[in-house]
Amino acid sequence: MKGVVLAGGTGSRLSPLTKITNKHLLPVYDRPMIYYPIQTLVDAGIRDIMIVTGGRNAGDFLRLLGNGKEFGLAHLNYSYQEGEGGIAEALALAEHFADGDTICVILGDNIIEGSIRGAVEAFERQGRGARILLKEVPDAERFGVAEIEGDRIIGIEEKPARPKSRYAVTGIYMYDSTVFDKIRTLVPSERGELEITDVNNAYIRENAMTFSFLEGWWTDAGTFDSLLRAGNLVAQTRRAQAARAQAVEVAGR
Ligand code: DAU
Repeated sequence: MKGVVLAGGTGSRLSPLTKITNKHLLPVYDRPMIYYPIQTLVDAGIRDIMIVTGGRNAGDFLRLLGNGKEFGLAHLNYSYQEGEGGIAEALALAEHFADGDTICVILGDNIIEGSIRGAVEAFERQGRGARILLKEVPDAERFGVAEIEGDRIIGIEEKPARPKSRYAVTGIYMYDSTVFDKIRTLVPSERGELEITDVNNAYIRENAMTFSFLEGWWTDAGTFDSLLRAGNLVAQTRRAQAARAQAVEVAGR
C-alpha cells in the first residue's frame, strides 16, 4: 500500500498565520505540522509516500523534508495542486503515483496519538473497496459525520447542522484504485470543492465501505482552537512518554 499526505489548500481559517507560509509548515509543539501525518504513515509500515501541496510555499516542503531521511525513508514523492479545489481534487493528483495500488490517504492537518497499523492491515486483507477511520467526538457538526446501522455505514454528511451520530469521519482514508474513477464523476459542492465525502458516499452506495474506530486522541489543526489543542495534546503525550521511559530506567538500575 502506498501513502498520500494532502497538504494543499489555503488555510484561510488560520489567517494571518497562513499569510506568508503554508498551514502544514506551522509548528505543532516541537515539530512542523506535516511531520505528524508522515510519521503516522511510516509507523503503519508505509514507505512509499507522496506529498501533495500547493501555493507559494510549495518549495519549502522540499527544503524541509528532502527525501524523507528523517523518517527513515529512501525517497519522497511530490505533486503540486494549482488552486484549492478540494480534498478530492488534491487526491486526484496522486493517480499516476498510485499506479493501480491501494492507497492510504491522510490529511496534512490530522494528528493522532495512536497507530493506524491495525486498520491498514485490515484493509490489506480486505483488498478492495474503501475503509475509513471514525472517532466519537462532542462536536461532530465540524466534520464529516457517519450514519451507522448495525455494522455498516449507510451514509456520510459533510458538516451537518444536526449530526445523525457522534462519529466523525477522520481525515484518514484507505482506497482501492477505483477511487480515481469516482473522483472523475464528482461535481463541485456549494463551497466550490470536490468533496472527499462524495467519494466516500460513492463507495457506500456500492456497499464497498468498511470502517475502524481510531484508538487514542485525534485532532485536526486547521483552526486557532484546534491548532492550540493539537500542540497541547502532543506536549502532554511526550511528557507522559518521557515519564514512562524514566520510570523504566530507574526500575532497571
Ligand atoms: O479533519 C477531518 C475532516 O476533514 C473530515 O471530517 C471532513 O469530512 C473533510 O471534509 C475535512 O474537513 P475540513 O473542512 O476540515 O477540511 P479542510 O478544508 O480544512 O482541509 C483539510 C486538509 O485537506 C488540509 O489540511 C489540506 C487538504 N486539502 C484541502 C483542500 C481544501 C488539500 O490538500 N487541498 C484542498 O484544496
